[in-house]
Amino acid sequence: MKLSLPALREMKRDQRPIVMITAYDHPSGRIVDAAGVDVVLVGDSAANVVLGHSTTVPATMDEMTILTRAVSRGVGRALVVGDLPFMSYQVSDAEAVANGGRLIKEGGADAVKLEGAGPSLDRVRALVAAGMPVMGHLGLTPQTATALGGHKAQGRQAEAAERLFMDAVALEQAGCFAIVLEAVPAPVAGSITRRVTIPTIGIGSGPETDGQVLVLHDMLGIRSGDGPQPRFVKRYADIGAEMSRAVAEYADEVRAHAYPAEQHTYSIPDDELAAFQAAVGAGSIDDNRLADW
Ligand code: KIV
Repeated sequence: MKLSLPALREMKRDQRPIVMITAYDHPSGRIVDAAGVDVVLVGDSAANVVLGHSTTVPATMDEMTILTRAVSRGVGRALVVGDLPFMSYQVSDAEAVANGGRLIKEGGADAVKLEGAGPSLDRVRALVAAGMPVMGHLGLTPQTATALGGHKAQGRQAEAAERLFMDAVALEQAGCFAIVLEAVPAPVAGSITRRVTIPTIGIGSGPETDGQVLVLHDMLGIRSGDGPQPRFVKRYADIGAEMSRAVAEYADEVRAHAYPAEQHTYSIPDDELAAFQAAVGAGSIDDNRLADW
């Protein structure tokens, strides 16, 4: 049964950690759901980890809708959150509602996520008024990382930390059902978590948030570049190395005529084979027969 938004809030109340992870395709959606995660985020990190861009900025609504639809089809219990990409909600409330509606109606998401507070607060109110649950995202907001001075921790000065705190309260008041806190010092994330009544989901924000989120490809060791990874990434497997080993073994076996073997091929009854061979002979086909084919 689908996890409900009130159930998520109960998890915060009961101090049961919320597990969120990203996914970008149908098999991954099935796997993470079967593994028992609570929330699956179809993040615009797709731009980095599956589409080969160096930032999340190029992700489009069409791409996010297709990926969200693929994931939603594979997920039964977990809440599916579709990420609104850069410039899909910044221009106006009307565009935010139309694009949020696409992720829910076409993509099958249960909720949408957007970044920031300030001007995003009106967007949250508009989306919620249109009946769409909204997850907020504060701290390091990758869509505006350039304006933040790069991909680095946020809220490390008192004034910036206070701004994050106030923004979180404002997002709660605007109607968000949860907030992602990315790259925020642990004590600041803890203060926010204790102040708001909605769940906080941390990424690089320490252990005091109500839940944690990681990018699936980061924790599985599937890299799309050679750059350094953020310090908060813990690698739970090295699937990239295993993929590479498997594909190299396949290539070796093809080149050595070791694959395919008997068990990978289909048979044909002897009499049918004989008739076929009689029909095509040694491979020379009458030109007239080919012309009539
Ligand atoms: O796009 C994404 O994957 C995210 C997570 C890092 C929270 O926003």
